[in-house]
Amino acid sequence: MHYHSLGKLPKKRHVTFLKQDGTLHREHLFGLEGFSGIQSLAYKLDLPSATLAIHDLPQPLPVVSDKSDSLTYRHLKTAELGRNEDWLTSRIPLMFNQQVEISVGFGVPDTLFRNASHHELWYLETGQGWLRSEFGNVQICGGDYVVIPKGLTYQFQYSQGDRFLLTQSLQPIRFPNRYLNRQGQFLEHSPICERDLKLPTVLETIDSCEETKVTIRRHNRYFEQVMNHHPFDTVGWDGCYYPFAISIHDFEPIVGRLHLPPPIHQIFESAHFVVCNFVPRLFDFHPEAIPAPYYHSNIDSDEVIFYIEGNFMSRSGIEPGSISLHPAGIPHGPQPGKTEASVGQHSTEELAVMIDTFEPLLLSSRALEIEECTYERSWIAKK
Ligand SMILES: [Fe+2]
Repeated sequence: MHYHSLGKLPKKRHVTFLKQDGTLHREHLFGLEGFSGIQSLAYKLDLPSATLAIHDLPQPLPVVSDKSDSLTYRHLKTAELGRNEDWLTSRIPLMFNQQVEISVGFGVPDTLFRNASHHELWYLETGQGWLRSEFGNVQICGGDYVVIPKGLTYQFQYSQGDRFLLTQSLQPIRFPNRYLNRQGQFLEHSPICERDLKLPTVLETIDSCEETKVTIRRHNRYFEQVMNHHPFDTVGWDGCYYPFAISIHDFEPIVGRLHLPPPIHQIFESAHFVVCNFVPRLFDFHPEAIPAPYYHSNIDSDEVIFYIEGNFMSRSGIEPGSISLHPAGIPHGPQPGKTEASVGQHSTEELAVMIDTFEPLLLSSRALEIEECTYERSWIAKK
């Protein structure tokens, strides 16, 4: 991430920086890898650790299931999830492993929240509003990915009832290294560039001594921290660790004369998964090109695709909001007739997000409730 700053800063780090009443602002460092990794330094009105109490919260529903690790093709219909669920229920994973959790829901955190264990990557399908945070506010809307590094306090001020895809990762989520030069700037051939990033632009400094509650996730437990002030009391910050957004509609697809595999559609990576997006684009332009993908075995990864809108050129029986899981161990590809139908086509309007995890995914009981079980036989041609 690139250096960014917002608000008031003293000329040097770790020097006296006085408020109007002559008392000190409080420095608050947010850093990974024990003062050796990426970081930001914020200046606060109150003591960041001024905590009145920490309570246990009711824990979310268990995510395990006795059918969770079957080997088969999966199709989940998220349109069947309840649209009026609270935000904690909405983030119960559909699929998960030790490193990554993938959720789909309709309720975003409208209370103060801090994920102390996972970095978060949101994809917001529709809606509009703001991501508020102690690093400033980011204006967001449908089509945006929102990246929220772990350990930051945030709150969505966003229309409820809009579907989201949430990926929680133990390891940081970043742009692929091959899009960047050695200095960290996007290269000319990258499908995204700095101008596409939506950074925090509005810093609201809340000076309040009212008790304020922050919900915290730490590992698989939830807590409520009661602070003696509001955590959005930042007067300034600078560094490279902050939330931001980028729209799927600003991803400029790269196309070729013959079929190009999914890494050409990649937008994010982490140590344990990659994220690609399939966006409206021209098809391959060799006169005999087959635009649909060839059959393939993901020998090292489980493939999750969240289908958003458009006609999905290689899939049958899929609807907006569907999720397919094509696990390692069994090959997949277009359903019968889809390869032939793609020949001669010039473009696609499909919109979908793909997550390939490097460790096997398990399904939760929440996922099994919305599973459409005929999918595993959808490659058998009707005679
Ligand atoms: Fe695939």
